[in-house]
Amino acid sequence: MNEKLWGGRFTQSTDKLVEKLNASIHFDKRLYDCDIEGSIAHLKMMANEGIIAKKEADTLVAGLGKVKEKIQANEMVFSDELEDIHMHVEDALGKVSGDVARKLHTGRSRNDQVALDVRIFLKRETKSVIELLIGFQKSIVAMAMQHLGVVMPGYTHMQRAQPVLFSHHLMAYYEMFKRDIERFEGCLKRIDVMPLGAAALAGTTYPLNREFTKDVLGFGKVSDNSIDSVSDRDFVMEFISHASICMIHLSRLSEELILWSTSEFAFITISDAFTTGSSIMPQKKNPDVAELVRGKTGRVVGNLVSIMTLMKSLPLAYNKDMQEDKEPLFDTVDTLQVCLDVYTRMFGNIQVHKETMYKACTTGFLNATDLADYLVSKGMAFRSAHSVAGKAVAKALEQKKELEDLGLEELKLLSDLFETDVYDFITIEKMISRRISYGGTGLDNVKAAVEKAAGMLGIQR
Ligand code: ARG
Repeated sequence: MNEKLWGGRFTQSTDKLVEKLNASIHFDKRLYDCDIEGSIAHLKMMANEGIIAKKEADTLVAGLGKVKEKIQANEMVFSDELEDIHMHVEDALGKVSGDVARKLHTGRSRNDQVALDVRIFLKRETKSVIELLIGFQKSIVAMAMQHLGVVMPGYTHMQRAQPVLFSHHLMAYYEMFKRDIERFEGCLKRIDVMPLGAAALAGTTYPLNREFTKDVLGFGKVSDNSIDSVSDRDFVMEFISHASICMIHLSRLSEELILWSTSEFAFITISDAFTTGSSIMPQKKNPDVAELVRGKTGRVVGNLVSIMTLMKSLPLAYNKDMQEDKEPLFDTVDTLQVCLDVYTRMFGNIQVHKETMYKACTTGFLNATDLADYLVSKGMAFRSAHSVAGKAVAKALEQKKELEDLGLEELKLLSDLFETDVYDFITIEKMISRRISYGGTGLDNVKAAVEKAAGMLGIQR
């Protein structure tokens, strides 16, 4: 019978099928460097506190270095029998360093070990997500800067509403991703807590110096309650929640890019490098990147449901169910990172058709609100002005015209406040330039917002 690291009390070997079910090595092997980093810190602390001899710790630290090289050189054989990355590393260390390796697990359990590994991993990856988000914001702001002054129809209910600056629309996404960054930064604080020393759940009888381990690993603080330390996966749930919101932002953007690149809209053209063709229809150029990002959002939201459902009803402390946290987490990290990366690159490869955008503002009565505002400027109450402008729209619709095509005499039939200056008042340019309320689409506002963002992101102008 093959002796497991925990095999002492067992007289029968594990059923092969159970071994297969139990094994997490095929996905948790990617934690190998985090696991080794955690073990090295644990050894250094134990040597410092005299729990093991300095020489023994040195041998084991060197041995772990060799194990790491072996994994990186693809020479490590992974097997279900050894369950997970923690056992594989310890087993490999035994082969490299001999019997002294049996001291590594002193004052430690896989329960606090895995909590530590995931935190080391997620701290690194969350920082990388934040960097990717900043990179993407830079391409959004660069695009907003490049097209300052370009006008497009703003929509509500997917119906043309009022003209807005294209840059203003883009900067709405900048704001959304700014909130995503803030969320990930908040989550980072709660990830940055060092659980090692909680052992199985109750703490340990060895005189561990948890502050020392924390400092070696560069964590912000040590966890305060050993039971919570091994039971807590809030930080995983939080990360996947924030990732879901961020993916939903990307998905909404995807939807717009897909629409804008249709022949019906033709507001943008995405370059060949970021689109694909059809195997049957020679003319096709499909916005697959945007579609895939939209699709992958479902997958990340699915991961959120997985982790939430997994954690719900779990009693304290560690339960093996929690091994199932890794696949949704890893998948979320990978999906979010690749989507942010590809979007950052794609943004520099989008052509903007400003004439088409402008033209789309000239039909569909986007100036109806301003026609009402004109009457208000002449002294009419807004509700009455709204009603007059509505009648003007009905009249124009009847004659298959735009509002500015109605003659002054016709307008005067609706209200004698109309004068010739109304035509200038309801031009696209005037509509934009009058929207000076803070946060509105007026050019000065948008320029200031773009410049502020560029300054914050350190973009050269
Ligand atoms: N592979 C396990 C996990 O990912 C490690 C912790 C196992 N602990 C235990 N008591 N069996 O959750």
